[in-house]
Amino acid sequence: MFFLTLVSRWLAAVPRFSSTATYSKAAQQPLLRLNAHNEFHIAIFADLHYGEEEDGWGINQDVNSTRVMNDILGFEDPDFVILNGDLITGENTFLTNSTKYLDVVVKPLVKHNVRWSSTYGNHDSQFNLSREALFKEEDKYFLSYTQHSPVGIPGITNYYLPLYAQEKDCNGTPIAILWFFDSQGGSEFQAPAGSQNIPNWVEPSIAVWFLAEQAILKKKWGKSLPSLAFVHIPPTAFLTVQNNLLANAGEESIHFPGLNDDVPLAAEGDGMQDVPFMQALVNTPGLHSVYSGHDHGDAWCANWPNVAGVVNNGSTPHVCFSKHTGYGGYGNWNRGSRNLKLSFGKEMEVETWVRMENEAIVQRVGLNETYGTDVYPLEDGENYPI
Ligand SMILES: *[C@@H]1O[C@H](CO)[C@@H](O)[C@H](O)[C@H]1NC(C)=O
Ligand SMILES: *[C@@H]1O[C@H](CO)[C@@H](O)[C@H](O)[C@H]1NC(C)=O
Ligand SMILES: *[C@@H]1O[C@H](CO)[C@@H](O)[C@H](O)[C@H]1NC(C)=O
Ligand SMILES: *[C@@H]1O[C@H](CO)[C@@H](O)[C@H](O)[C@H]1NC(C)=O
Ligand SMILES: *[C@@H]1O[C@H](CO)[C@@H](O)[C@H](O)[C@H]1NC(C)=O
Repeated sequence: MFFLTLVSRWLAAVPRFSSTATYSKAAQQPLLRLNAHNEFHIAIFADLHYGEEEDGWGINQDVNSTRVMNDILGFEDPDFVILNGDLITGENTFLTNSTKYLDVVVKPLVKHNVRWSSTYGNHDSQFNLSREALFKEEDKYFLSYTQHSPVGIPGITNYYLPLYAQEKDCNGTPIAILWFFDSQGGSEFQAPAGSQNIPNWVEPSIAVWFLAEQAILKKKWGKSLPSLAFVHIPPTAFLTVQNNLLANAGEESIHFPGLNDDVPLAAEGDGMQDVPFMQALVNTPGLHSVYSGHDHGDAWCANWPNVAGVVNNGSTPHVCFSKHTGYGGYGNWNRGSRNLKLSFGKEMEVETWVRMENEAIVQRVGLNETYGTDVYPLEDGENYPI
């Protein structure tokens, strides 16, 4: 056992290169399974923004972000980590070593031997940083479960990961699915200065792929499984929530507690280009919730609203912001991490909270049928010194 632990730590610590075109890392990686409590605990690290201003303050920012991750991994001991976009501030990094920041970002995960997967954000594609090269760097790690979009699908991080019961309880069918989407944005690698011309929304072709993949999985497993979705830039539904459900913009709601300081929040696109994606989300039976980053000053959850142009169609997922984890990127709100506890009895249940850098837990809510009428204390995480 001790030997195995050593071996797995060694595997985790050593980047692994694919030696042949047929090598499939995914096939060798252990399946994601529930822990001994029949739960799956995810910590989300969002908007880390490594690599800003390497001549001075940027260096300490990254040291601070690494400290935040190490501390939170210590407090929470999650089963899995999701890096929910903007790992690096690509417009500040150098052609010579921009992907090397990925190795710095994942150091705490390697140290704690925790598996992870990513979505990429708009700052992960910039003049000196190629999204494709970033993926290649990340894919060297045996602990990384990030996968590459199928050929012809825009962006990189469009994929899903099945979650299985403990081995002793497992009949071969997963019990839940984690979906990841690429909301793109930013600039093409080495594109002329100032061009930020990549669409910053989940494109309709991705929605088509998502629905087609669901149909395949439903056929394979004989049913639709409960699922969660992760995407860096929030779908426009988040903005609708802020305008309509969070009655006094900028304030917290007792029903949907959490920092609400980015007003109005920046959502995907600027003219409802993400309607096909949102329609696909609400057409997904069992989709429980959607998690985004991008807006560093927002950290609330809420219920899916009525969105112009979208026909609510059976599934109305909860919507949650992650929590700004990095010292990089705009804003000085206290740092933290959204955590999720998925538990499995008869159905999947999800509890979520934000773990602050100073160890405090805020905004613990149950994303269940009474969420939206349940009353919670107002705790935006700003009343705690770090
Ligand atoms: C790093 O974190 C400390 C708090 O521990 C803070 O005082 C300092 O301003 C931070 N430095 C930067 C560059 O963000
Ligand atoms: C890109 O990297 C080069 C060399 O590493 C550096 O000189 C240049 O300033 C960077 N450009 C941008 C736009 O960041
Ligand atoms: C990348 O190169 C710059 C300039 O030499 C240096 O300051 C920085 O520390 C390097 N970053 C990484 C992650 O290697
Ligand atoms: C609602 O879901 C049904 C069944 O999946 C589907 O056939 C229909 O096209 C969906 N409606 C919209 C507006 O997408
Ligand atoms: C939903 O979760 C909250 C917080 O854990 C709890 O107080 C409430 O009773 C739950 N509602 C249901 C129907 O289980």
